[in-house]
Amino acid sequence: MLTLDQCLKANRPLLFTVAESDIELLGYLRDNYKETEFKVYSSTTSALIDLNSLLKGDPDPEPPMVVKGKATPLNILFRQILETKFDSSNVCFIKYIFLDCQTYMNTAQNVRYVKDILSRYQLDPHFAVNLIFVSQYVNVPMGLERLSEVAFFDVPEETQLKEQSDFLSEKLGLKEKPSEEVIINLRGMTKFEVEQAYLQSYQLFKKIDLDFIRNFKKSSIAKTDLLSLMETDMTFDDIGGLDRLKKWIKKSYGGWTVEGKKFGLPLLKGILLVGIPGTGKSLTAKVLGKVWGLPAIKFEMSKLFSSRIGESENNMHRILKLFETVSPVVVFIDELEKSMAGIESSTFSDAGTTARTMAAFLSWMQDTTKPVFVVATANAVSYVPPELISRFDKVFFVNLPQKEERKEIFKIHLKKIKRDPALFDLERLAEKSKDLSGREIEQAIKEALYNAYHDKKEITTDNILEVLNSKPGIMLTMKEKVGALLKWVGWDDQRHNGIRADYASLPDNIDSIQAEIEKMINEVSSDDKA
Ligand SMILES: Nc1ncnc2c1ncn2[C@@H]1O[C@H](COP(=O)(O)OP(=O)(O)O)[C@@H](O)[C@H]1O
Ligand SMILES: [Mg+2]
Repeated sequence: MLTLDQCLKANRPLLFTVAESDIELLGYLRDNYKETEFKVYSSTTSALIDLNSLLKGDPDPEPPMVVKGKATPLNILFRQILETKFDSSNVCFIKYIFLDCQTYMNTAQNVRYVKDILSRYQLDPHFAVNLIFVSQYVNVPMGLERLSEVAFFDVPEETQLKEQSDFLSEKLGLKEKPSEEVIINLRGMTKFEVEQAYLQSYQLFKKIDLDFIRNFKKSSIAKTDLLSLMETDMTFDDIGGLDRLKKWIKKSYGGWTVEGKKFGLPLLKGILLVGIPGTGKSLTAKVLGKVWGLPAIKFEMSKLFSSRIGESENNMHRILKLFETVSPVVVFIDELEKSMAGIESSTFSDAGTTARTMAAFLSWMQDTTKPVFVVATANAVSYVPPELISRFDKVFFVNLPQKEERKEIFKIHLKKIKRDPALFDLERLAEKSKDLSGREIEQAIKEALYNAYHDKKEITTDNILEVLNSKPGIMLTMKEKVGALLKWVGWDDQRHNGIRADYASLPDNIDSIQAEIEKMINEVSSDDKA
């Protein structure tokens, strides 16, 4: 992939540029391409806004060009561009910049115009026009993918951030220089955002406040719908059971500390939590970042894959880059199998884009040297390619809660409805909730609470037992899927653990587990025959 500078210097005729901040991009062009003629526009449905004054620093903007009738403002501008007359003695490029215009580009007419402009560019040596589209995401209109170049306008590097921080500190007349930690937290922010954050922090606190900068950064990451910052009030105390998984997480904390690094602990890449729905996988993933004291970002990978052909690949590159810039960070991908569903058919359905995008993710996980930790969950493994599974440091199998775990879960959720668990018969509740997931236990308590309220009585063990008795439970409704999952995980008698995944907590009855798994698989396959 060419860099933005390479594309500009080579006068590439059609360029799609991804920039976090278009203001920053324009500033960069103004400072570094003084000799070049830019014409800058942003478009709405009915008006085209001429932003050339912005680039030149001229305070009087041109009035917007408003059109009536059928032609859109972009149509009219494209026609004007197509008809530009060039003096043959002097070929000087005009670079048209369109900010956030892609939404209006997905019409056959505009695509046609752009193609005509490109043809003229190729045929007529005097026609010196480049079209540059700028937006926060790669969004190449259908039909132009092959004709265009994509370039990224990067966020500043750490040394640049340090320079800018020094510059701003001096300008604001700060007595105290911002700490190293502040600078680290600027990573991933654009210059414009850094300036805004410093100004606002100074106004509020008369200094550069670390917490303020952290919060400012959170809101800047949350700008895209593929990523969101995850914050949770939950802790390990809100998760019943899963002791082996919790232990691993606690143990691995060392990898993020300075002493751990000095000791030579290698960087961890990630864990995959596979298991039965409603057993606390997402819950644990959400809490993990907090336990390690790292920020956590949720990555909606399935949304990325559902975007239009050609976009997902570039956006994946961009997002992976962002993870690295904001590292150390925990990246949470929920329900991985949903993102994978289209991969196998990818060669037929989308010219291999989905498969390529996934491959980009895989090699990034392998190659990245930045502290980015991926925690992914999956309710089924059949769609998740084995080469992905093998990228994780650990795969944990999250089973249905065992008896002691169910007791803990009852306690947690009774406390959540502000009841004293000591007033309930936890032993019986745990006994009667065999084969239910944590989510189902939570739901049963809620339902029982409603029933008690309706009867105008305080909730008791009996209310909950009544609901439990009427519940079919996940084991019955999803027997096949659960059976397939257990079969995949397998069981190693010697190690007392799964074969393809580690049990997040040990089953109550280790001696009979093999038999139970086999029984279950047999039941599933005899159902098949029936
Ligand atoms: N081990 C558990 N301890 C406490 N609550 C649980 C547990 N497992 C599930 N729950 C409850 O069920 C809800 C759904 O669990 P979740 O983590 O989303 O399940 P999944 O494994 O499908 O990702 C949780 O928000 C929590 O309220
Ligand atoms: Mg989940």
